[in-house]
Amino acid sequence: MTHLVLAPMEGLVDWRVRQLLSATGGFDLCVTEFIRVSQNLFPAHVFHRYCPELLNGGKTLSGVPVLVQLMGHDPELMGENAVVAVELGAPGIDINFGCPSKTVNKREAGASLLKCPENLYEIVSAVRRAVPGHIPVSAKVRLGYSDKEMFLDIARAVEAGGAQHLTVHARTKMEGYKPPAHWEYLARIREAISIGMTGNGEIWDVADYQKCRDISGCDSFMIGRGAIAAPDLANRIKAFEGGSHLPKESWADVLSMLLAYCDLMASDGASENHQAGRIKQWMALIRKSHTQGEACFDEIKRIRAIDELRAKLRHDMALPENQRTSDLIAAE
Ligand SMILES: Cc1cc2nc3c(=O)[nH]c(=O)nc-3n(C[C@H](O)[C@H](O)[C@H](O)COP(=O)(O)O)c2cc1C
Repeated sequence: MTHLVLAPMEGLVDWRVRQLLSATGGFDLCVTEFIRVSQNLFPAHVFHRYCPELLNGGKTLSGVPVLVQLMGHDPELMGENAVVAVELGAPGIDINFGCPSKTVNKREAGASLLKCPENLYEIVSAVRRAVPGHIPVSAKVRLGYSDKEMFLDIARAVEAGGAQHLTVHARTKMEGYKPPAHWEYLARIREAISIGMTGNGEIWDVADYQKCRDISGCDSFMIGRGAIAAPDLANRIKAFEGGSHLPKESWADVLSMLLAYCDLMASDGASENHQAGRIKQWMALIRKSHTQGEACFDEIKRIRAIDELRAKLRHDMALPENQRTSDLIAAE
């Protein structure tokens, strides 16, 4: 049975998005945005801010477990913070070794640690030692920093450190997010390690999923931008695996999810600017998957007031399916 994980995405996938996408269905696991561990032992409220699901047994409202992701370079401090997260109810700890951000990498965290697999081993084993044995520890890596020469050493270091699971974003740090993702490397890693493995990178639709599955031989996949572009993608992949075809969700369903996102943001006091920014950011990805998205994004990108933005989404929802924004703009 295919296992699908909603990717951690800092500044994009917060608890509200996890709530909406896990309620849509198809995902078996979520991971929080990274919590940057540099010199402090964080108090509970920091973990609750990143992962309010801790107050719900470590699960989204739909019952999907949420791993807490930590990113840092100091093995002991990473272990100590992992203990706090577990005491607060985290069902597992994920360690980020893939972040390409310049600021983070200057401070020897995220993807820069890939340059020396020994670092990975030290951090994973410190976290593994610190948290109780029944709590899974996993790590998320890329294929390397500037080249892929050490991709197997990286995977083996994570396994030797005692992680139960490895997620591989099939690109180097230097490749950033530029297509393609090198799914063929996933197969080689899978054969070299005996812990569970999740493949990640460039799954935008069911056809990509099928190709990635066939090339990598994985049975677990993490989906990031593709799941934001098409919130029902995980459902359609699961249906495909079950031998059926699920039609793509309607444009009205997409807009309704964006309005629900506005409601969730408003309910916990997000500023109007923040709300409008997040809706535009989401729509920028949606246009990759829904033809109506391009015209809608063009219209909303200039709107500042959240009420106006909501009204625009509501207006589009009420139009007949064959007369959405794109048609109106084309007619102007
Ligand atoms: C805006 C953004 C933020 C991200 N933040 C994180 C993060 O906090 N932790 C992490 O491990 N990966 C992070 N990633 C990487 C994604 O989890 C994922 O590995 C990457 O987007 C490739 O998958 P995709 O092609 O399905 O999007 C981020 C990616 C993006 C685009």
